Amino acid sequence: MPRSVPIAPAALLLAVLLTGCGLAGCDGGVKGTPGGSGLRDPYFPKAGNGGYDVTHYDLTLAYDPNDGDQRGGRLTGTATVTARATHALSAFDLDLRGLDVTDVSVEGRAARWNRAGQELTVRPRGDLEKGETFRTTVRYHGTPQTITDPDGSKEGWLPTADGALALGEPIGSMTWFPGNHHPSDKATYDIAVTVPKGLRAVSNGELTDERTTGHRTTFTWHTAEPMASYVATIAVGHYTVSRSTTSDGLPVYVAVDPAQTAASRKVLARLPEIMDWARYTFGPYPFSSTGAIVDRPDDAEYALETQNRPVFPGAPDTATLVHELAHQWYGDSVTPKTWRDMWLNEGFATYAEWLWDEDHDGDTADRTFTSLYAHGEDDYEDLWAFPPARPSAPGRISDTPVYLRGAMVLHKIRRAVGDDTFYDIVQGWAATHRHGNADTADFTAYVEKRAPDKDFTGIWKDWLYGDGKPDHA
Ligand code: TRP
Ligand code: ZN
Repeated sequence: MPRSVPIAPAALLLAVLLTGCGLAGCDGGVKGTPGGSGLRDPYFPKAGNGGYDVTHYDLTLAYDPNDGDQRGGRLTGTATVTARATHALSAFDLDLRGLDVTDVSVEGRAARWNRAGQELTVRPRGDLEKGETFRTTVRYHGTPQTITDPDGSKEGWLPTADGALALGEPIGSMTWFPGNHHPSDKATYDIAVTVPKGLRAVSNGELTDERTTGHRTTFTWHTAEPMASYVATIAVGHYTVSRSTTSDGLPVYVAVDPAQTAASRKVLARLPEIMDWARYTFGPYPFSSTGAIVDRPDDAEYALETQNRPVFPGAPDTATLVHELAHQWYGDSVTPKTWRDMWLNEGFATYAEWLWDEDHDGDTADRTFTSLYAHGEDDYEDLWAFPPARPSAPGRISDTPVYLRGAMVLHKIRRAVGDDTFYDIVQGWAATHRHGNADTADFTAYVEKRAPDKDFTGIWKDWLYGDGKPDHA
């Protein structure tokens, strides 16, 4: 059809003249490009995706521990992800590891999609405009994977003695729902989990509905405050539930594996008291409920600060309970921008343990600091292996320097500014970045602003960023 060739440019010219939009099309005037398959995190570059910002996850899941394969039970899910395009998009990625996807739609219309590694790439029918809010629905099923981290520990979906437990730090949540799995993109959540009658499903936020139909029960959980996906959880199994309220009226929901109730009773009874102390020390609690999930010691290898309701493998000790509750302020509410900023989580949560001791007739934080400086390497041989703000490898973001040397940085600041300013900083930091994200540069700038007459250059250089053991305590 040679005659039609010259007509097209003419028509295009006419379109441009009439509407002001040309080859790019008229959808917002800018041609969409792919969002990108990772956020270039310095430690986990493929984690997360570019081009959009998730505002809400609506997850409707069913899990039957007895209906899977030898690796665990079977999960069936429908995830509706509400997001805002940060530029015009022709395609975008969600992170999802394992599981079979059956279909994907965007704004109710079937979308093309394909999978490569942990990337689920979605091509909507038409481009998404910059600033547009769009809903993507993914239906999927299968036996979720357990991931072995660079440091050798297990995360993701962990089958347990009587169900399963989902732990997501740093990248495990992509084993059970598709999303933007990077701490920089926080969102609200509705999570409904259907399990065989007799089992329970515990998650983040508040339980808004529990309903049994036939042989299955559905537990519906609502998280109204922004949550990073690495602190999202579900725990399926037999649990003894106790509900109460803190002195300021906050709902407490504690779920304990029946095999652990006796061993954990005493320490969990202190949870309201720890919350009171933490509010007094760190400022207003950032979430609308609190609690804990206690599974069996073999169910997981470590505790995790899952939002509202930290998870413990077996009865925690008081220090661990204090640590995970402190993370609700430092980690869950003020969340690192990247995995390099882990010390802002672990340094604060560890320092919270020191402060708890100091306030409860134990060692002062100064004594803890001083003895660590004097001979900490006897107990922690890698204490000085790398600076807290620059872990030497992805497999080391949860190593001793991030925790202990991170806490030592905070103590150095306390020594420099005195207690009044120090507590102002600790509370002000939590208030300023409440429900947000922050990195190490934000932190040092904040400290400098709160104590303008002090010079922190040496602390940053020797304690935060410097290699090896600092020359002076
Ligand atoms: N955040 C957990 C805690 O200290 C520990 C942890 C588990 C962790 N998995 C991790 C830390 C992965 C960093 C990376 O309470
Ligand atoms: Zn921690």
